[in-house]
Amino acid sequence: MHCWDPVTPLGESLPAFDNLVRQGKVRYIGVSNFKAWQVMKALGLSDSSGWARFVAGQYQYSLVNRDIEYEFSDLCATEGIGLMPWGPLGGGFLTGKYSPDERPTDPSSEGRIAATDAVGEEAWHRRNTERNWRILNTVDAIARERGATQAQIALAWLRAQDLVSSVILGVRTMEQLEENLPAADIDLTESELDRLDEASALPELYPYRMIRDYGARNAESFGA
Ligand SMILES: NC(=O)c1ccc[n+]([C@@H]2O[C@H](COP(=O)([O-])OP(=O)(O)OC[C@H]3O[C@@H](n4cnc5c(N)ncnc54)[C@H](OP(=O)(O)O)[C@@H]3O)[C@@H](O)[C@H]2O)c1
Repeated sequence: MHCWDPVTPLGESLPAFDNLVRQGKVRYIGVSNFKAWQVMKALGLSDSSGWARFVAGQYQYSLVNRDIEYEFSDLCATEGIGLMPWGPLGGGFLTGKYSPDERPTDPSSEGRIAATDAVGEEAWHRRNTERNWRILNTVDAIARERGATQAQIALAWLRAQDLVSSVILGVRTMEQLEENLPAADIDLTESELDRLDEASALPELYPYRMIRDYGARNAESFGA
């Protein structure tokens, strides 16, 4: 299911999916672009009604977009949902082919973030941030140390995340595919993963920090 649908009740869409699974037309069902509570609501309905439940999540996830770690990662871990990230290279940003504050303006430039239309403009401004360039610097340093490309390192970081079952590659050319596939054989070390995690860490938001600290205090007082 590609996105939360505000006009069709889950009580209609989930049994429709369940029918497809029972008929053997679909093996497993997956969900994309739902809030965590919406997925949880769907899982609760599936469980109480005996319908097929979502077993896969397709969410945007990369070193430059770790937003799903606020809510969705916990949900995957506790509910047994495998994560298949889309946008693993931040739309091409993590390949290192763009430079800080140098908005590509040549209409013949290749690359979707270089597009001179409104979509390209928006894509550029969303990515041209200090935080993103800092992340890319770390990716670049590790790529140089390993003799790999930035894209390969960014993909290898995703593969190393426990919740990630498979990465959805998006490529425009055969050369890009050939460059990206060797990422499947790159196992980053703990220290490399720590550097990438540190560079791309999310800001702490309420109530997540409070829940974490409160839980840690409780666990400590119960000796857990
Ligand atoms: N569920 C959803 O809502 C949703 C949303 C979006 C996408 N998706 C799926 O996820 C797939 C992947 O997402 P994505 O396409 O955004 O992934 P991405 O990996 O973040 O971006 C892919 C783009 O990066 C550039 N690129 C890739 N490898 C490169 C390389 N080695 N060197 C230079 N440039 C390179 C190419 O674009 P340029 O050459 O144009 O720069 C390519 O099209 C999509 O194909 C789609 O099936 C799902």
